[in-house]
Amino acid sequence: MGRAIERTPTGVMGLDEIIEGGLIRGDVILVAGHPGTGKTTLGLQFIYYGARELGEPGVYISVTEPVQRIRRNALRFGWDLAALEDEGLVKLVDLPLMDVPYLVALETGQVQGINDIVYKIVRPLREVKAKRVVVDTISALLSLCKGEGDARLLLLRLYRELMMSKATSLLLAEIPLGTHEVRFTAQEFVVDGVIILESVLEGNRLIRRLYIPKMRGTNHSLDCYNLYITEEGIAISPMPAIRGI
Ligand SMILES: Nc1ncnc2c1ncn2[C@@H]1O[C@H](COP(=O)(O)OP(=O)(O)OP(=O)(O)O)[C@@H](O)[C@H]1O
Ligand SMILES: [Mg+2]
Repeated sequence: MGRAIERTPTGVMGLDEIIEGGLIRGDVILVAGHPGTGKTTLGLQFIYYGARELGEPGVYISVTEPVQRIRRNALRFGWDLAALEDEGLVKLVDLPLMDVPYLVALETGQVQGINDIVYKIVRPLREVKAKRVVVDTISALLSLCKGEGDARLLLLRLYRELMMSKATSLLLAEIPLGTHEVRFTAQEFVVDGVIILESVLEGNRLIRRLYIPKMRGTNHSLDCYNLYITEEGIAISPMPAIRGI
């Protein structure tokens, strides 16, 4: 018998129950989804729940939305991030793409710029001794990469640094509407787990669904669940969804 694996609950109702109680502490998880399926909300809920309920400091790196918007939208769910920031339990970091250096392929075969990007993400973790981190989105950062090779390098560097920080990490990723794939397939292979959020039309109504294709070290459900965004944030159905056509 090995040592028991330590898990940390996400705070998303229904989700922890289908992944043996929570994410493995220190794991790096990809949360990939269609536009508007709740990636940002899920990330914020993870950070808020961790800080408020468990006292786990969290860092939210926002590449796509300015952090003032994040604070404002979080309040709609009753999540007062500013108060947690004052307590030193949460740090919201603005990382707009224009502040990120371009990646330049060097003759040595190395790619200049990757270390800078990774440093911008990892440095704030030390400031609050983060136990949780969210990058919203990794897709935006990977859009700076010219191809699969650069993307894999950036991901591997980031993965290693996050692993060493021992924080449990969510990397949010975009899946364009009408497709079922993230742009760089390396993302799904490098990380420890993948959670997919999708929106599908059922009749004339859009339904949000969640499923888990991969979660290393975990006997997770392979079913598909309805996902709801309510006044209290994200929840998934207690029972698997019945697949439509
Ligand atoms: N207070 C609320 N109650 C119910 N649903 C809400 C509420 N606030 C937002 N939503 C829903 O959540 C969606 C946005 O969620 P969120 O921003 O988390 O998605 P996302 O996957 O991050 O989107 P994007 O791809 O644009 O980054 C909105 O489009 C809306 O449908
Ligand atoms: Mg978002």
